[in-house]
Amino acid sequence: MSKQTLILLYGGRSAEREVSVLSAESIIRAVDYHQFLVKTYFITQSGDFIQTQIFSETPGPDEKLMTNETVIPAQKVAPSAIYQTDAVVFPVLHGPMGEDGSVQGFLEVLRLPYVGTNVLTSAGAMDKIVTKQILESFGIPQVAYMAYFEGDDLEKAINQAEEKLSYPIFVKPANMGSSVGISRAANREELRQAIGLALKYDSRILIEQGVTAREIEVGLLGNRAIKTTLPGEVVKDVAFYDYEAKYIDNKISMAIPAQVDGRIAEKMRHYAAKAFRALGGCGLSRCDFFLTEDNQIYLNELNTMPGFTQWSMYPLLWENMGLNYTDLISELVRLAQEMFHKREDHLF
Ligand SMILES: Nc1ncnc2c1ncn2[C@@H]1O[C@H](COP(=O)(O)OP(=O)(O)O)[C@@H](O)[C@H]1O
Ligand SMILES: [Mg+2]
Repeated sequence: MSKQTLILLYGGRSAEREVSVLSAESIIRAVDYHQFLVKTYFITQSGDFIQTQIFSETPGPDEKLMTNETVIPAQKVAPSAIYQTDAVVFPVLHGPMGEDGSVQGFLEVLRLPYVGTNVLTSAGAMDKIVTKQILESFGIPQVAYMAYFEGDDLEKAINQAEEKLSYPIFVKPANMGSSVGISRAANREELRQAIGLALKYDSRILIEQGVTAREIEVGLLGNRAIKTTLPGEVVKDVAFYDYEAKYIDNKISMAIPAQVDGRIAEKMRHYAAKAFRALGGCGLSRCDFFLTEDNQIYLNELNTMPGFTQWSMYPLLWENMGLNYTDLISELVRLAQEMFHKREDHLF
């Protein structure tokens, strides 16, 4: 039997491109080479598609994927040149222009099956205001919030925020990810500044209630039948899980499974699956919660392409459920093909 071609798209235009490279490096070392031939394409910060290595067996420890530092511009191809009959794409891209529906739409136009959520879910989960509105309509618990749109009366919005919420208040651009443009305001002046900062990144701003809480995450996998993992906890020694803390200082460790009451864990798994369905999810996602000291659960967000190195929360959550990293990748490819056939069948 000939091998299945797996096309790995990695890098990308967002601030999270470094995590993407690490995820891709992990994947090329873990996929089942009896089943797959892996073709890789690096997407540069400026959005060029660069054809990179092809792997038919596990690469050695010294084999590195191309990055912005080692990019060979002469290997640039037209984005549509990634097309190959019967291939499946794993867009291991995080953040805007990768996880937000744009690449997903491009792959649908090319008629390529791809791992992960579709256009609607990717775009909806990337927009923090849209996510909140959908969660609200499905009765899923979340922190109190309001939206501010560029051009709205700022003083009026600040007054409303102070009526509805109490400090500390978190301010976030609707569409960014990786904590970029997010700040925590402890008073009116900081709130004004926080909105100003967030407006540099997006014209849609989410203003929400700050909470003191543990950060607990649940893995989701499946199309129609959705499986969830036991929760894991992001253990922080910093108050605010910002980009530096997340990716650079390594100030984060994980507890898997999280030490939480069984009933709390069950509720979180229920809400995670409900939110995934509400947003139209398929393939995978990681659902992030806040858990307060008095056991209040708030759903914070759904990450449709979570960090995917072998040591990232999402794969480790599945490992804990008895599904190892290699088999997880194979299962994601199978789910991608299943969704592709379903989509194509509906067109006739
Ligand atoms: N309402 C909140 N209360 C307390 N901490 C928050 C709140 N919102 C965000 N944070 C902190 O900021 C981090 C990043 O916010 P998040 O909404 O997850 O954005 P991102 O898309 O960048 O991951 C969270 O992991 C958490 O540490
Ligand atoms: Mg987050």
